[in-house]
Amino acid sequence: MMRILVVLVALVFVGAVLLWSGAYNVAADDPHTRVVHRLIEVARDRSIASRSAAVQVPDLSTSELIRKGAGNYSAMCEECHLKPGLDDSEVHRGLYPQPPNLAVDQPEDPAEAFWIIKHGLKATGMPAWGRSMDDETIWGMVAFLRWLPGRTAAEYEAAVAASSGHSHDGAEEEAEHSHEAAARESGPVAQSSPAEREVISALEEYHASLTSGDIASVERHVMADERFVMIEGDHVNRGWADYRDHHLRGELADLRKVRFRLSVNQIEQEDGLAYVDFGYHVLPREGPEKDFGKGQATAILVRTDAGWKIRLLHTS
Ligand code: HEC
Repeated sequence: MMRILVVLVALVFVGAVLLWSGAYNVAADDPHTRVVHRLIEVARDRSIASRSAAVQVPDLSTSELIRKGAGNYSAMCEECHLKPGLDDSEVHRGLYPQPPNLAVDQPEDPAEAFWIIKHGLKATGMPAWGRSMDDETIWGMVAFLRWLPGRTAAEYEAAVAASSGHSHDGAEEEAEHSHEAAARESGPVAQSSPAEREVISALEEYHASLTSGDIASVERHVMADERFVMIEGDHVNRGWADYRDHHLRGELADLRKVRFRLSVNQIEQEDGLAYVDFGYHVLPREGPEKDFGKGQATAILVRTDAGWKIRLLHTS
């Protein structure tokens, strides 16, 4: 009996010396030993499983939830958890444990994902978002995470553009209550079919190409012949060459300083012909989100062997 006590006291003493001496490396660029890693893993998994068991999962397939989640994910999660087209970031690379790439793998269990997002995970960098978000906002992100894996960068950006941005109870960037915001409430992007999403992607890519300074890349997204029509306010350009030479060339330098954010109000697609009613914001390419201008537009696109091409664009 006495012997056991001596051994126990000795063990505690050795443990205390090890702790106090700083022998264990807490640096994030030095992985845990296998034993410590396994212990943490079991503690983490058991803790999450038992605490999330009572969480009631709502219907996560509604486009309203997914739409809301897109803007919040883009504002608060992509730096760590990445996004389609972004496979690495400085924050992602430096963290230990490394945040999972949520654009590739979706969390297995929605109740557990909800619990993790709400409460965070100690000493991992994963914040407790429940401190600033209500439950519905968090469910929006869980719903979005189920939609996300396998989407293209253009689909992702389109979903973010259609969302009301970083918005949760009292968040600063709440969308303005214009009729645009009201139109976005119905979430045409989240509800759209795969063909409709292709159309939206084509429109997004066209606007991105406008800011690239490269006429050839703009040309790939339009019907680059005499059928192309561009109406700007009350000025009509008929034919691609007319628009390219009399208008676009002169604007390329200015367009390089901005980026567009689109919000789709309505989209219809049938037999290779698509109609889109959308709003656009012109924002500085870098720096704070200041509006340079905005407007409403309608576009007609035609499906060709080389993808969707803009045949007519009418901007306000
Ligand atoms: C500062 C970096 C950081 C930010 C920002 C962040 N996370 Fe995390 N998150 C992590 C890390 C690290 C882990 C992994 C922890 C681990 O392995 O135990 C994680 C884990 C998760 C998991 C569990 C994934 C799984 O399959 O086990 C979910 C879900 C999650 N985060 C969602 C979010 C959402 C949603 C946001 C934005 C609201 C967010 N995270 C923001 C760092 C971050």
